[in-house]
Amino acid sequence: MSVDREREGLRGYAGFATFAFLIALSAAGPLAQRRDYPTRPPADPAAVERGKALYGVNCQFCHGADTRGGDSGPSLLRSGIVLDDQHGELMAPVVRGGRPGMPKFALTDDQIADVAAFVHTFRAAGYDESRLKPPSIVVGDATAGERFFTAKCAACHSATGDLRGLATKIADPRLLQQTWLLPGSGAGRGGPPPVQVKPATVTVTLPSGDKIEGRLDRVDDFLVALTMADGTRRSVATSGDSPKVEIHDPLQPHKDLLRTYTDADIHNVTAYLVTLK
Ligand code: HEC
Ligand code: HEC
Repeated sequence: MSVDREREGLRGYAGFATFAFLIALSAAGPLAQRRDYPTRPPADPAAVERGKALYGVNCQFCHGADTRGGDSGPSLLRSGIVLDDQHGELMAPVVRGGRPGMPKFALTDDQIADVAAFVHTFRAAGYDESRLKPPSIVVGDATAGERFFTAKCAACHSATGDLRGLATKIADPRLLQQTWLLPGSGAGRGGPPPVQVKPATVTVTLPSGDKIEGRLDRVDDFLVALTMADGTRRSVATSGDSPKVEIHDPLQPHKDLLRTYTDADIHNVTAYLVTLK
């Protein structure tokens, strides 16, 4: 009896050892490239929407609308970094540090977590959750959306002024939603975004008092790069507060607001804006 049990135990152990060996082999060998996309708990839908908007303006151009890669960037669904990433912690160093062929982005941890939440909704196997969503995203309460609009948007926009006919101009509610979340995002596959926004500009005041102004190309803790009106590109090393760098990003209010929306806010505002025919 006790011998039998010991044999059982041994057999069990041998089975486990083989299993463990196979796991080790698949992690180390070429099979590692073909890992299944990990199952993750569903993300906060508001984080996914915010991330989609950020991805749309910053990453889509190179990595493709569906994160499967494009002309200028690899598929993120085959990336070990992305596969192992949970909440943007592994993607953050790449995003902030850049790569050959990929610029640096000054995104916060929260913003990168949102981008990661969006990227993680895709599966290597060929489907993404967004395709499984109900056909309509107009599920909010338009009256609550109008209240939100009056409180948070009406300082800069008006339903009877600049946003009049918005839902006629952008008939697809999904695209409309991406557009109000972050104007300039929401391009379809290969198509341009429905709204072109003015680029951010920068004024650098040198210690001599001379000013350099132009379109902001890049900024980080050490450098600001810009293109002046005549097309000349300049980059200026920065250190602490010198020289003085003033950035004027027309989308800054939208980027700040983007962090604050709840899932309900997003649905409600979209439900309201689709009525602006
Ligand atoms: C101008 C094109 C471009 C843009 C824009 C861009 N990337 Fe990349 N990205 C690349 C290229 C090219 C590589 C591969 C670089 C290399 O070979 O190391 C890359 C690599 C990566 C990787 C690492 C993949 C791996 O496993 O090595 C991640 C993660 C990534 N990008 C995420 C992003 C995110 C998130 C954004 C937006 C915030 C973004 N990228 C914007 C071009 C781009
Ligand atoms: C502090 C000002 C400000 C606030 C607040 C603001 N926006 Fe905007 N919004 C802008 C600016 C600036 C642009 C356009 C950028 C450009 O044209 O370069 C814009 C663009 C848009 C567009 C694209 C319009 C088009 O068709 O050209 C929509 C839609 C929009 N915002 C919706 C909203 C909504 C909804 C809210 C509230 C949740 C909001 N905005 C809050 C400043 C603001």
